[in-house]
Amino acid sequence: MANRNILITGGAGFIGSHVVRLMVNNHPDYHIVNLDKLTYAGNLANLADIEHKTNYTFVKGDICDIDLMRKVFAGHDIDGVIHLAAESHVDRSITDPFIFARTNVMGTLTLLQAARERWQGSYEGKLFYHISTDEVYGALPLGDSLFTETTRYDPHSPYSASKASSDHFVRAYCDTYGMPAIVTNCSNNYGPYQFPEKLIPLFINNIRHRRPLPVYGSGDNVRDWLYVEDHARAIDLIFHRGRSGQTYNIGGFNQWRNIDLVKLLIKTVDRLSGNPEGQSLDLITYVTDRAGHDLRYAIDSSKLKDELGWQPSIRFEQGMETTVKWYLDNTAWVDNITSGEYENYYRTMYENR
Ligand SMILES: NC(=O)c1ccc[n+]([C@@H]2O[C@H](COP(=O)([O-])OP(=O)(O)OC[C@H]3O[C@@H](n4cnc5c(N)ncnc54)[C@H](O)[C@@H]3O)[C@@H](O)[C@H]2O)c1
Repeated sequence: MANRNILITGGAGFIGSHVVRLMVNNHPDYHIVNLDKLTYAGNLANLADIEHKTNYTFVKGDICDIDLMRKVFAGHDIDGVIHLAAESHVDRSITDPFIFARTNVMGTLTLLQAARERWQGSYEGKLFYHISTDEVYGALPLGDSLFTETTRYDPHSPYSASKASSDHFVRAYCDTYGMPAIVTNCSNNYGPYQFPEKLIPLFINNIRHRRPLPVYGSGDNVRDWLYVEDHARAIDLIFHRGRSGQTYNIGGFNQWRNIDLVKLLIKTVDRLSGNPEGQSLDLITYVTDRAGHDLRYAIDSSKLKDELGWQPSIRFEQGMETTVKWYLDNTAWVDNITSGEYENYYRTMYENR
């Protein structure tokens, strides 16, 4: 289908910037409209390499602003949405749950409503694609069990509760109004341009400055990790070939205990920085566990593999190497962020612990 006008929300954030770049470069016949509020997590420097492209437009705006959403849908004749805008950090959701309900729930609902008003009566060729998380499924015990697309929702944090609610609204618009919609639930992403409050970029930066590496509890929590470009490829594929009304899980088949991941990270950063092996191990500092910390997340993404042939293409060791190198080579990008509000925020958080 040529000449599509795609609205990508949250495109100045971590995953969104990779999706925008991929869509702009892979589909020169599409017009990509990136709408982002530029909260603390949004950074247009993430898109410096594609901002001049003629098939790309940036709109600064809030997905909760219905008038603006109506204007964007009409003004750009939007026929597809890839919705990533969200408050995304679990720790912040524990400190301030209200903004998570506002953006993730009301913002998604506002966007759905604007799409419905614009598309009503002619849903042909339209799609609302909502990007969500595996955290909506709750926690798994240690062992071999995996989240599948039919796992019951059981969110525990304000973040995952708000994402679960937004998933339900997307499905409700699909079931009630016939809006073509897809939801995907993905595991933890890592890679370049991730805001340095999240574990991997935060720890790379802390090792660089010889600051403590705060590990929650005993570090036994398990997460599945996926390289962000593999996620972006999955999104492109599902946007074009996924079946409306369906949910797809996206994961890396790559589970790591937090403490093992931290040790691998230390090894990689020390090696690439020319430090003696193991020099930074003494920075590991165990801190009081996060309230309601889910023990294990693990994703079964075989539906996506069987239906659309997707599987991760970047091995974890390779992705980790590329990621660490990127943060060490782009210290100006990191320092620009960490010099501001972010540092004050973290200072307060750690003092309160
Ligand atoms: N990071 C992960 O590991 C992961 C895993 C699975 C799913 N997800 C989901 O993917 C999406 C993107 O995650 P991320 O890690 O890139 O997040 P991020 O925090 O890096 O980026 C979020 C972006 O949304 C924008 N935004 C926030 N509120 C907005 C609003 N009201 N209106 C318009 N824009 C707004 C921010 O400015 C930012 O650019 C989120 O929906 C998240 O729930 C993330």
